[in-house]
Amino acid sequence: MSDEKVGFIGLGVMGYRIAANLYRAGKLSIVYNRTRSKAEEFAKTYGVEVANSVEELASRSDVIITMLSDDTAVSEVLGHVVPLSEGKLLVDMSTISPLTSAELAARVAKAGGFMFDAPVMGTSIDVEQRRITVLVGGPKEQFPRVERLLQPTAARVVYIGGNGMGLYAKLVGNMMFAIFMGGLSEAINFARAAGLTQEQIMDLFLNISGTRSPSSQLKVPKILSSDFSTQFALKHMRKDVEIMVREAQRLRVPVPITALLASLYRMAENLGLSDLDVSALAEFYSKVSAH
Ligand SMILES: NC(=O)c1ccc[n+]([C@@H]2O[C@H](COP(=O)([O-])OP(=O)(O)OC[C@H]3O[C@@H](n4cnc5c(N)ncnc54)[C@H](OP(=O)(O)O)[C@@H]3O)[C@@H](O)[C@H]2O)c1
Repeated sequence: MSDEKVGFIGLGVMGYRIAANLYRAGKLSIVYNRTRSKAEEFAKTYGVEVANSVEELASRSDVIITMLSDDTAVSEVLGHVVPLSEGKLLVDMSTISPLTSAELAARVAKAGGFMFDAPVMGTSIDVEQRRITVLVGGPKEQFPRVERLLQPTAARVVYIGGNGMGLYAKLVGNMMFAIFMGGLSEAINFARAAGLTQEQIMDLFLNISGTRSPSSQLKVPKILSSDFSTQFALKHMRKDVEIMVREAQRLRVPVPITALLASLYRMAENLGLSDLDVSALAEFYSKVSAH
């Protein structure tokens, strides 16, 4: 264990696995999760301490990592951390609005701490295999600390620019993934209606189509077997595309495809697919089709 005490907040699908990698590298001291049972399960497996509150974790840590759902969660949690952040390093790995993140970072800087946005490209499986890339925004001179901290859980830790820039890079990557999942769901639904077999569809997307990719390898088998167990929740993708649409309005760039997808993902959520994997967008297509 290094001298720096590292605390981790948010033991969801991604956070649990990232925290486990940090623990294995001897870098984790204490954890907190809103639903305490998840933190207790983590502590039972890995033998680290569980904080009773965000404030307790913050006051007992030099470095605080957060991996939370959305803007509301990060604002709520960091609201408790900011007043305690003097001399501390905050690394938020959640995918949230770049503006929200930059505003929080300014408050942390005013309190005498450093904050970075450090969103993740890759899935929970990639975390387990330490294949994720972390895209980092924040004060450049402190970046080597973030890089050293996250190396045990990532294949690459890449500095993008000032606060919020890691998140812009993440949104760009996810814009393409959101569009890909929309296209894939639509094409598979079309293929099924036309009478192609499961095997033919699988072969097409994994071996023949020029669009074959790690994402098709991961998602096509899930869609074809109706296995919508969550790797990346559909509700999180909806949240991401809504951030993209808001940002595009601010930047005055047209994003007609992303805007349409925001509605499609929202409709899918309203049909009860919210907590399932993003590949359940294909299920949305089945539900609204005649075949
Ligand atoms: N899953 C992926 O493949 C993936 C990939 C890249 C990026 N991301 C991004 O990473 C972030 C986390 O994703 P995930 O899949 O790990 O999500 P998740 O499984 O839904 O976990 C969300 C975490 O946030 C906590 N939380 C939510 N609202 C909170 C609040 N108001 N106060 C305190 N804690 C709160 C949850 O606590 P409880 O346990 O109490 O609910 C849980 O620990 C998201 O921004 C997502 O878009 C995910």
